[in-house]
Amino acid sequence: MLKGKTVLLGVCGGIAAYKACELASLLVKQHAEVHVIMTKNAEEFVRPLTFEALTKHRCVTDTFDREHPEEVTHIALAQKADLVLIAPATANIAAKLAHGICDDMMTSTVLAARCPKVIAPAMNTNMYENPVTQDNLERLSGYGWTVIEPVSGLLACGDTGKGKFPDPQFILQYVLKELAFEKDLAGLRVLVTAGPTREALDPVRYITNHSSGKMGYAIARIAAFRGADVTLVSGPTALEIPAFTNFVSITSAEDLFREVTARSSAQDIIIKAAAVADYRPSHVADEKIRKSDSDMFIPLERTPDTLRHLGSHKQEGQLLCGFAMETSNLEERAREKLKKKNLDLIVGNNVKVPGAGFGTDTNVVTLITEDSVESPGIMSKEEVAGCILDKLLSLRKQG
Ligand code: CTP
Repeated sequence: MLKGKTVLLGVCGGIAAYKACELASLLVKQHAEVHVIMTKNAEEFVRPLTFEALTKHRCVTDTFDREHPEEVTHIALAQKADLVLIAPATANIAAKLAHGICDDMMTSTVLAARCPKVIAPAMNTNMYENPVTQDNLERLSGYGWTVIEPVSGLLACGDTGKGKFPDPQFILQYVLKELAFEKDLAGLRVLVTAGPTREALDPVRYITNHSSGKMGYAIARIAAFRGADVTLVSGPTALEIPAFTNFVSITSAEDLFREVTARSSAQDIIIKAAAVADYRPSHVADEKIRKSDSDMFIPLERTPDTLRHLGSHKQEGQLLCGFAMETSNLEERAREKLKKKNLDLIVGNNVKVPGAGFGTDTNVVTLITEDSVESPGIMSKEEVAGCILDKLLSLRKQG
């Protein structure tokens, strides 16, 4: 996602410096060109060679580099960068950057860079919570920096509190948000549903399905990267909550109906990727149901159909997208649902097709509108998410 982008990674002298190695590696895996600048103190924690091996670029540590006198290194790097990322940042570097002090390679380069800047402070809780540090971070945010808050936990110094360097994967999300996508969904409110629902039978059992939530989560993540204000309403999944989304957790089809309809009128686009149970047990036992020697029959009743409800209460200009998971006659059945539920787009897939089943990282979909059918072939769920959002955006432009 970062092909053609240059990230300037500034690494400062704190114990979290070792985590910057993983961060550099994650950026390289996303095909970014990564240049690392280390402060003198950072070299006490990690060797520059580690970053050089990971990024295949010289790690810069010294303002007065006699090996390359022909280029004013810090200006060259500053001009090249699409993003400056200081991670981990010490209280000292935050203070210097907030006040324009540039007495080493890192601070001089950053002062000369005009690109977006992100800082991820990591330090002892008391240092982080000190009003001086807080003021400095606030000051940086006032200058347009994105400040990634540290997380709470057990710190290297033995204290417990806020100050831990976040998971490098989490920091990567900020880089992707800044660099990977055009913000063509900015200003739009998008609600996505994802995952399965669970319909209780008694206090220990429920009816559910195989949905992993991956497709809906990919849509929510990409929509947020593209600038939308995203709400993700999700059934139980094992997935990380996508960054930059408003997350609403639900369990049953009834919960989903309640949470979605409470928010639906404010949405520009609603995408219903959740695999909602169509039936639930008519009666939920208060006590665990005991077995007997005879067979058991469970009476079921219909759950509310949220998508159908949304289709019959559609707001002016709102776009509705549903999913149809089929095992045969895909186009015909999906088209029926498109009509019956008053949708603008339906994403059909046949679970029997290789690469399109539950829990996979790929999908094979057919995008169906009233007057078009597109089958883009097997793709990653992220790519499918991109196609769905592109299609909805083009429908929106057509009015
Ligand atoms: N849906 C919903 N509420 C339900 C059931 C489904 O909002 N109670 C939504 C799903 O999120 C999905 C679409 O409707 O976007 C699926 O349509 P549906 O006709 O329910 O598909 P199936 O459940 O597969 O129905 P059928 O058994 O008729 O094929």
